[in-house]
Amino acid sequence: MRIALGSDHTGVELKARVKQALDDRHLEYHDFGPSTDSPVDYPDYAVRVSESVASGQCDRGILICGTGVGMAIAANKIPSIRAAQAADRDGARLSREHNDANVLTLGARTTSIDNALGIVDAFLSTPFGEGRHQRRVDKVMALEEGRSFPTTHSSGPLIRNDNPQR
Ligand code: RB5
Repeated sequence: MRIALGSDHTGVELKARVKQALDDRHLEYHDFGPSTDSPVDYPDYAVRVSESVASGQCDRGILICGTGVGMAIAANKIPSIRAAQAADRDGARLSREHNDANVLTLGARTTSIDNALGIVDAFLSTPFGEGRHQRRVDKVMALEEGRSFPTTHSSGPLIRNDNPQR
């Protein structure tokens, strides 16, 4: 697996720790920058990493900004990118299992380094769950391509569902 890495100035330190962790696991990566903490604009790096994943040059992307939010918003503008901002291991695991997320975004100002490394581990080691999740991801991709799709449920009461098995 080849991983594309990028950050803005707030994420340079955490990105260095992520690179160490990837080195420890002998995983290949390409760092799209930046290499210093001089202020930069997060969309510039979101695009570089996302395009490398969308083109197949890299298999997954990891983007770091202050909160992970700006990176997720920007990355999700690139066709075929499903970027997930994860705050804990479970979120990262489910973003792979249920959503086939191909880009992970992290918040350097909101996540401890230990937690961030656990999130990266869960993101890289969890396979997509296929089955019912594939049907749902296909609908997301249809939205991106402007295609319509049959809905299984029309309008109805909104029911809170905390059961991750559904
Ligand atoms: C930079 O100050 C900050 O806005 C950026 O890192 C990020 O948090 C945006 O979403």
